[in-house]
This record gives sequence, structure tokens and C-alpha cells, in this order.
Amino acid sequence: MTLPASLPEFEGDPAQLYLLAALLTRDGAITRHGRALLKECILRRDPRLTAIMKGFHDSEADEAFVERVNALVESEALALHADVFDECPLEVAKALSKRERSAKQLDGEKSLIYGEVEFGYFARVLRKIAPRNGGVFYDLGSGSGRALVIARLLHDFDVCKGIEVLENLNGAAQIICKRFEVLASDVLDARTSKKIEVQCNSMLDVDWSDGDVVFANSTCFEDDLMGSMARQAERLKPGTYFITFTKGLGSDAFDVIERKRYKMSWGPATVFIHVRKNLDGTSYEAPPLTNIPDDASYQSDDDEAGSPPSSPGSPYDDDEDVDFETASHDTVDDDEFEGLEDLVAARR
Ligand SMILES: C[S@@+](CC[C@H](N)C(=O)[O-])C[C@H]1O[C@@H](n2cnc3c(N)ncnc32)[C@H](O)[C@@H]1O
Repeated sequence: MTLPASLPEFEGDPAQLYLLAALLTRDGAITRHGRALLKECILRRDPRLTAIMKGFHDSEADEAFVERVNALVESEALALHADVFDECPLEVAKALSKRERSAKQLDGEKSLIYGEVEFGYFARVLRKIAPRNGGVFYDLGSGSGRALVIARLLHDFDVCKGIEVLENLNGAAQIICKRFEVLASDVLDARTSKKIEVQCNSMLDVDWSDGDVVFANSTCFEDDLMGSMARQAERLKPGTYFITFTKGLGSDAFDVIERKRYKMSWGPATVFIHVRKNLDGTSYEAPPLTNIPDDASYQSDDDEAGSPPSSPGSPYDDDEDVDFETASHDTVDDDEFEGLEDLVAARR
């Protein structure tokens, strides 16, 4: 991306940085919420800005420069995300899920096993897709709302919607939405939507065919849920992105445009990025994924490029031995989560 030659050289003047942030937003290199987060850094004259601007030469915002700006935006978003989830760490959400499953004798339902996306990996996947402004983001099986808040902070969707079948988790997500409003609303762009909506329901009983980017952390989803979700996904409009973990949708209505293995906290998980084909079965011409340099978290699947996409129960499913529940961080002191549990109960 080339910025106009009239852009003044950076001399530590916040006004110049605002202008640069505006130009980056105009060119789609950063989101509007990203610009607002950058503005916070500018206002407090964050020393990281100086280091970033040292790499900005001759009004030329090259990929590496944009990468550094986005890294700063993401670190601001990560700090906000951590504040929002301060009282609902993974252990608490797991305990809420376990208690409800035990109480309802659902312990055998593998699809309900709880786990969460990690900020860095999910931010990276979304940035690769670089969703256009507006549109609807869905998390199918939204848990306490981690992926929703990441999507909300980093992209300018009209609305981020979560559907979670367990009441306890959905109750926690409602509290998280309130915390998000209190902690993040003022920091984000005033003229861009900050809406997050969560509902307690099965994803199979809700119409999410208006989604533009749909996500399912599907590592533990059983084949029947995967199959039903894939059939329902066929109602999405051409060009819709659908992200799954570990298993692909296995639907002829979708192209798998990338499958990459990441090292998640619980072990390896392959991330599938699908695009809904045109209704006549031809491939939708989606813009190429943003080229983000691989880091140590990537384990390329390129050698599998010729393989058919993964499908439920097919031999191409990844053999990822994932057990969120036995990961090292599944214990929680009762008093640590009773506060949240009480809040969840009070809201019922
Ligand atoms: C691995 S967790 C993912 C949580 C969240 N999406 C994240 O990535 O941080 C999967 C979630 O899907 C939920 N789930 C399973 N089957 C579901 C269904 N049929 N409808 C809605 N949610 C479901 C589970 O209760 C669980 O909270």
C-alpha cells in the first residue's frame, strides 16, 4: 500500500499519527476499531509507536509496517480482552460447563466438552480473512464468549452473535457482554457497531444463514453434530467464510481455502477456512487471504494440499487427540468461581 506523498514525515507529532491511522483505515489496512485502539496509544504517547514509526520510510507503508501496526492494535485488544475476562478465566467456564453437564447427566456428550480459542491464533485467522466492514459474525457454541469478544474488538462487524446450548455458559457470556460494554465501549470507535448478542439455544434450532463469517470451535463436536451443522451451513450465502477446528465441514457446497495446523494450548489443532461456493456449484472468487508470515505456532499442512477436504467421519479427519478436559488447567478453587456462578444463577 502506498500512502500519498503529501503525508508528512513522522516527527513525534500526534496529529501526524492520527492522519496516518486514518489513511491506514481508509485503505483497509486497519479496522475502525483498530484505529480507535491506536488512538489510545497515540494519546498516551506509547513508546512502542516510536519504534514502529522508525520503520516507516518515504511515505511507504509496506507489509512489514502494517504488520507492526496491527501487532500493536492486537496487543491493545488483548489487554482489553484480558480485562473483560478477568473474572471468567478458562477454569471458571470449564467448571460452569461441567456442573451443568453433571446436573443434567450430559457427561457422555462429547460435543459439549469445553475449551476456548486463544486470542493470538484466532486474531490471526480473522486477520487472514480480513472481513469487510459490516456483516454478521457467528460463533456456534459460543461458551463464555471469548471468540465473540476477539471478533468484536478486532473487526468492524455490524454484530457478533453467539449461540450456546448450556445455560451456565450463556449466563457467563451475558455477564461478559455487560463487562465488555463497561470496559471497552468508550475505547472503541464511536461510529462503529459494538454489538454482541448471545442466546441460549442449540445451533441446530437457530437460523444463522445471514452470517458472513461463521466460526465453530468444533474440535470435540461429534460426527452427527458436525454433519447437521454442515447441512445447515449450506443455507449460507455464497462467499461466506466458515472456520472450523480439527474437522472440516465436508460439504460440497464449500471450498476449503486453507487448512493449517496450529499448536494450541491443548495440543495441535488444524484450522479450516472454508468459503461457501456459488449456488451453481462453482467456486466463489473470494479475495486472497492476507499474507501473514508464519511463526512458530504454525505447522504447515501444505504437503496435504492434494487431499480431499476433511469430512465428518472420513479418513481425512485429523487424528488430533484433544481432550480439553484433561488439560493441565482444569482445576478451579470453588470460591474462585462461586462469585460468577452466583451471578449466573441470579440472572436466571
Ligand atoms: C470448545 S467450546 C468453544 C467455546 C468458544 N466458541 C470458544 O472457542 O472459546 C464448544 C462449545 O459448543 C457448545 N455446544 C455444543 N453443542 C452445541 C449445540 N448443538 N448448540 C450450541 N452450542 C453447542 C458447548 O457447550 C461448548 O461451550
